[in-house]
Amino acid sequence: MPKDLAKRRAIESVVRELFRLYGYEEIETPTVEPYELFAAKSGEEIRQRMYVFKDLKGRMVVLRPEMTASVARVVATKLRTAPKPLRLGYIANCFRYDEPQRGRYREFWQAGFELIGSSQPEADAEILLLSSELMDRLGFSEYVIKVGHVGLLRGVLGAEGLSEEEQNHLMGLVDKAKYEEAIGFLESRRASNDCVKLVREVFELGWLSPREAVEAGRKLFSSYSEADRPLENLEEILSLTLEAGVDSKKLSVSLGFARGLEYYTGMIFEVFVPQLDIALNGGGRYDNLIELFGGPPTPAVGCAPGIDRIALAMEMLGLYQEPPPTKYAIVIPLESELRGAALRVAKILHEAGIPAEVEVMGRGLSRTLSHASKQGYKYAVILGKREYASGNVVVRDLVREEQREVPIEKLKEFLAS
Ligand code: HAM
Repeated sequence: MPKDLAKRRAIESVVRELFRLYGYEEIETPTVEPYELFAAKSGEEIRQRMYVFKDLKGRMVVLRPEMTASVARVVATKLRTAPKPLRLGYIANCFRYDEPQRGRYREFWQAGFELIGSSQPEADAEILLLSSELMDRLGFSEYVIKVGHVGLLRGVLGAEGLSEEEQNHLMGLVDKAKYEEAIGFLESRRASNDCVKLVREVFELGWLSPREAVEAGRKLFSSYSEADRPLENLEEILSLTLEAGVDSKKLSVSLGFARGLEYYTGMIFEVFVPQLDIALNGGGRYDNLIELFGGPPTPAVGCAPGIDRIALAMEMLGLYQEPPPTKYAIVIPLESELRGAALRVAKILHEAGIPAEVEVMGRGLSRTLSHASKQGYKYAVILGKREYASGNVVVRDLVREEQREVPIEKLKEFLAS
């Protein structure tokens, strides 16, 4: 509906301002994509919720459930040789067969920022920083960016001999906060007692400040050298993000955090406000996806703020300010032979950037004026035969209830002032 769309557009204009400031070029990809594009790395959760169907040629296609895979495919093909880094942004509708409930829709809009070509921690920090800036610019004061690193758990699981599929299954359970089931699965895969104990401790630790998390990580993961680099990487990303100016109270870290998508290889995060238990934004590092689609090895990191959820949260918190009404002038022909002239007068105003609508209901003057006042128009431009013949119109100020004759060539100055 117009009011809902106005809210979305307001959020999108902040997103586009960030595209401009941070240098993200906007990209659009097809809504309908080959099934395989998303089957590969979307993760069980999204795979099961995709709209899948056969097209007229019998090809399996999907309505895109997200944009990162599509962008990665474009980078692997059309932008293969483009100089890096590439900063690509999008605002796109996505589709998931989620149970409709507050903040969970089957068609929803994602904005997105994908920073492609850099494996440096400052790239991860940029994505965290702009996610925080988006929240600040929209007026959120209380929000938390929950950060983790898939390299920690995957490092331990890999060292214990769990296959990638088994790791994916376990990470999927963690994503859904099914911790006991995750521990049970680990035991069923004959992980060592030390490993089970470590993973249990990681889950019990929950959310910590950046400093506490790094300290805890050093102790907990000390017997797994596979976790050294992820921990160092996480520490560096957090410290760069703090140095960039993100408030440390807004960063919360879990060493056992997971997200539903399977393409993540490093830092992952989600953004929350206390009033809603679903994420407003999510993202992370995906260093293998572009190569998977046939491109050269290309590290990348990004995020996708959910526009509908942000709009919902803004509404709940009273952050959305209704824009001032745009109704301005209504041009009313008093005689039917002046209908063309009314269109012409409106056009003169449009050329000067002044909003003007023509009366098209064939109503009489008094009914039109009362309608115009109720609708919030500021001025009525009335075309009468006698005045128009001498090059004038009558301008009625609907707020002050005053009127005067104005020459048509002075009309735009008169209304603009
Ligand atoms: P995601 O966490 O699946 O990540 O989705 C990102 C955001 O989209 C969520 O935080 C949420 O705000 C919104 N969203 C997801 N599902 C729904 C739904 N059913 N209704 C309304 N909003 C929804 C991704 O999609 C990744 N592509 C993010 C990313 C970009 N990672 C790297 N680059």
